Amino acid sequence: QLLTLEIDYEAGEGPGVCWLAPEQTAGKQKPYMYTQGQAVLNRSFFPCFDTPAVKCTYSATVKVPEGFTAVMSATSWEKQKDNTFVFKMSQPIPSYLIALAVGDIVSADVGPRSRVWAEPCLIEAAKKEYDGVIEEFLAVGEKLFGPYVWGRYDILFMPPSFPFGGMENPCLTFVTPCLLAGDRSLVDVIIHEISHSWFGNLVTNATWGEFWLNEGFTMYAQRRISTEVYGSAYTCLEAATGRALLRQHMDNTGEDHPLNKLRVVIEPGFSPSLGVNPEDTYNETPYEKGYCFVSYLAHLVGDQSKFDAFLRAYVNQFKFQSITADDALGFFLEYFPELKEKGVDSIPGFEFERWLNTPGWPPYLPDLSPGQQLMKPAEELAELWAADSLNVEAIEAVDIAAWRTYQLVYFLDQVLQKSPLPEGNVERLSKMYPKISKAQNAELRLRWCQIVLKNNLEAEFSKVKDFLHSQGKQKYTLPLYRAMWAGSEAAQALAMETFSATAPQLHIHVQNYVKKILGFGGAE
Ligand code: BES
Ligand code: ZN
Repeated sequence: QLLTLEIDYEAGEGPGVCWLAPEQTAGKQKPYMYTQGQAVLNRSFFPCFDTPAVKCTYSATVKVPEGFTAVMSATSWEKQKDNTFVFKMSQPIPSYLIALAVGDIVSADVGPRSRVWAEPCLIEAAKKEYDGVIEEFLAVGEKLFGPYVWGRYDILFMPPSFPFGGMENPCLTFVTPCLLAGDRSLVDVIIHEISHSWFGNLVTNATWGEFWLNEGFTMYAQRRISTEVYGSAYTCLEAATGRALLRQHMDNTGEDHPLNKLRVVIEPGFSPSLGVNPEDTYNETPYEKGYCFVSYLAHLVGDQSKFDAFLRAYVNQFKFQSITADDALGFFLEYFPELKEKGVDSIPGFEFERWLNTPGWPPYLPDLSPGQQLMKPAEELAELWAADSLNVEAIEAVDIAAWRTYQLVYFLDQVLQKSPLPEGNVERLSKMYPKISKAQNAELRLRWCQIVLKNNLEAEFSKVKDFLHSQGKQKYTLPLYRAMWAGSEAAQALAMETFSATAPQLHIHVQNYVKKILGFGGAE
């Protein structure tokens, strides 16, 4: 028998619902609110079965004050009288994908099924950044992975404190305004969120302990789309920067850290060895080690078009369901019976069980050599800058003016690895390349700030401060606080000063992680 259950409730101060004061927005005139459900925060937004194992459709009626607009992750919406918006999501989705934002926001079309949403002062820039490019990513995604089932694909540019690069809320990706680089150079984030339309939003990890099923497959899909659109040289370069992030993460946490397994144990506990908090699974392992595992599966198959066909079949088999890694790998072996016959799941050193349950560096790394033509010059230039006496002639012979953003990122990661550089070199580098040291691009700013801190270049500490005041993305904020805290007394003072000024603007999770870095206790 059907029964209707009515629940009268009020959302309080829980972490899933973020209330921003006008000063925390780009326009600084009106307040803003948004929800962020992943991983298990939507329980503070509305009563729900807050597990990715359960999917349902939803509808919502949202009444907002005059002068505000509401948007949701929904297939259709309609504005009625009295500032009331009605939304309907007609496909079943897990609770973490239900999202709402309310603010002074407007929209502009950027494609046949896509528009950008942003505060009025950013809408021009938002339109310019992605006008005419989204449709190609969707079309390539459909060609590779099957139909795009969500109807529209829109993008909402969030206030600067949004803690993620992007969040794949169906029909309406939420993104950091840092993507507004003016040159589309950070579009890989959009391709990533689009890829979740198949991996994550259609086929969903049944538990957060196997988050790599969402993110590892998505990284693989993102790089497949990127390869089709931009070619393998560029895509391998981007993947190499991802590998560098995985290296940094494992160096920070220790390879044997329980989070450095693809399958983690979600349980309440006071330390990660007892049980992992699902909120802490957002680290490089599910992304980049997950990417390596999916690449390994492709390597076993040995033929790209056969593996693409497998991915299409996988999506078709499990669409609108939530699955475990055993389901995914079982289907892989069923789809390729000759591989099953050969026992590819138990090749010594590469056992599927080992991939899932052993922490540490991936046993297989995909070949990124097609990126060498872009990586090699960056590696050589970093070598030159690391020398005790600089070979200025050789340095000046390298023209970085034409380098793409990711080539500069790769170069800076190499410089960071070799830092601290011999006395005086970083100052020279800063003067020689204002394109880097005065960059507005967030990925370049992050690397430059890391280099400034690792080399204790006090003259440029203000850049770290300015960057941390300008945005609150977790993946930018935490590495910089870690670097400050590991640095000189002046760097530690900078950390304290910056944190006390910016803490109220940071997402509560980011605040807690920074507190932990600075030794205040706080987050587990
Ligand atoms: N779904 C994630 C963001 C997320 C993960 C939110 C875990 C909350 C908990 C999103 O798809 C993502 O991975 N974003 C990346 C993009 C990058 C890999 C291109 C990000 O924000 O950095
Ligand atoms: Zn993702």
